[in-house]
Amino acid sequence: MAESSRREKGAEVEVPKIVWNERQQKFETEDKEAYLQYVMRKDGKVMDIVHTFVPRSKRGLGLASHLCVSAFTHAKSHTLSVIPTCSYVSDTFLPRNPSWNSVVHSDDLKSNI
Ligand code: COA
Repeated sequence: MAESSRREKGAEVEVPKIVWNERQQKFETEDKEAYLQYVMRKDGKVMDIVHTFVPRSKRGLGLASHLCVSAFTHAKSHTLSVIPTCSYVSDTFLPRNPSWNSVVHSDDLKSNI
C-alpha cells in the first residue's frame, strides 16, 4: 500500500512504489516511466548514477528524489559507494539531503561519461 508524506509546501502526495530492475541496472516506478539508471564500476563496489528521468507531467513532485532514496538505500545496505554523475543527484538531491554524502564515493566524484 502506498504511504503518504507531507511535502514542504504542505501538499499531501503519495509515495510511489520504486522497483529495483537489476537486469537493466535501474530503479524505476512500476509503470517504468520514471527511472534512475546506474552503471556498476570498480569490480561492482561502486554504483555510478548516470541518469535520472521523470516524465514532464510528473516533474516537481519529488519523484526523482524518491528514486534517489531507493538507490542510495540500496547502495548503503549493500556496502556500495555512489558516484553522482547525474546532475540531478550532484546538484539537487545531495545538497538537499546531505546525510547521504556519507555514501558518496570519495576518489572521483564524477565519472567521465
Ligand atoms: N539537474 C539538477 N537539478 C535539476 C535538473 C537537472 N538537470 N532538472 C531539475 N532539477 C531540479 C529543479 O531545480 C527542481 O527544483 P525545485 O524543487 O526547486 O523546483 C528539482 O530538481 C525537482 O526535484 P524533484 O521533484 O525531486 O525532481 P523531478 O521528479 O521533477 O525530476 C529530473 C527531476 C531532473 C529527473 C527531471 O526534470 C527530468 O527527467 N529531466 C530531464 C532529464 C534530466 O535532465 N536528468 C538529469 C540529468 S541526468
